[in-house]
Amino acid sequence: MKTKSLTEKYLSDANYLRSSRKFDEEGEFFWRSPSNIALIKYWGKKENQIPNNPSLSFSLSNSYTDTKISYKPNKKDNQINIEFYFENTPNKEFEQRIKNYFEKISDFEPFLKQYKIEIYSSNSFPHSSGIASSASALSSIALGICSIERKLFNTLDSREEFYQKASFLARIGSGSACRSIYDGFNLWGYTEFIADSSDEVAIPINNYVNDIFFDLRDTILIVSSEKKKVSSSQGHSLMEKHIFAEARYNKAIANLKEFISALKTGDLNQSANIIRNEALMLHALMMSSDPPFILIKPETLRIINLIDNFIKDTNLPITYTLDAGPNLHLIYPNQYHPQVLDFIKLLVIDIINYENIKFDFIGGGCQLLAEK
Ligand code: PMV
Repeated sequence: MKTKSLTEKYLSDANYLRSSRKFDEEGEFFWRSPSNIALIKYWGKKENQIPNNPSLSFSLSNSYTDTKISYKPNKKDNQINIEFYFENTPNKEFEQRIKNYFEKISDFEPFLKQYKIEIYSSNSFPHSSGIASSASALSSIALGICSIERKLFNTLDSREEFYQKASFLARIGSGSACRSIYDGFNLWGYTEFIADSSDEVAIPINNYVNDIFFDLRDTILIVSSEKKKVSSSQGHSLMEKHIFAEARYNKAIANLKEFISALKTGDLNQSANIIRNEALMLHALMMSSDPPFILIKPETLRIINLIDNFIKDTNLPITYTLDAGPNLHLIYPNQYHPQVLDFIKLLVIDIINYENIKFDFIGGGCQLLAEK
């Protein structure tokens, strides 16, 4: 017998939520959710935010979003009714995005149309600083929605069910957000190498990872915090007719397989090479899209040259990655932090200011901060 997809399961659960309509309660949940950095990249998707290849990331410690989400009876019955505040200021642009998101997920959470929802969201890091804010923002909102569902309907009572649905709902808001629920290493996308892997949700994979990877640092070199000219969604859609699409998806699967083996055996050098390969390939795909686009800056390349020389000279297992932007993420075990700091102080500081360097680490997952 074919097992139900999560989408089918949640659509059928929604019938129960619909039939036990509740209009008259109110409450509030306050969630913190981490950002994450992808080591195997998600770039290219199918309908409903289903990825074309599996991706793998780790959650960050210092980069997170705090979101307070409150609900009370809605006077506009059967319509999404939200107010959105970013850093305590009403933000109409984000509000519209969240409204569209709520429309999309209301098939799974029909109560979203029965309540007036207010959202207060703030980041621990500057917006557009090269840290994936949509991942932490959307996952924190998805967690709030799951809390409301649990409170109103007594559903999602096990930790697994709760986080699985949060990851599912986060994915619909922003693909990479589904990897921002759990601590440590996360995998999103089906692969035959990992049991329970799924295109619909991320799963924690810390059990597959050697201890030496649990003190990784992510030192972020902010080359530019300008708003990107091409958004991630435009980038994903340019993969649809990309001449290298098939080769990319095959290589991503091969990289993932090798990467998981390096994670298991504790092979820092092999993992470092794969991380760099993924980052450079991502940007090569952007440059070879039709139309092409370039997100790295001259300073990005200058710093890459310096890092490559530094790695060659020292032979240390230090590597770098890039998201869809010009900023570099230096990834390395904590024990090499003094050498990396010296390198930054000696060479990188001529290119970017010290305040544009953010120090982060592999970190914990989401956290419920308060509830009323
Ligand atoms: O989640 P999105 O749609 O913003 O896409 C994220 C894309 C990358 O950050 C470049 C890669 C990834 O896997 O996070």
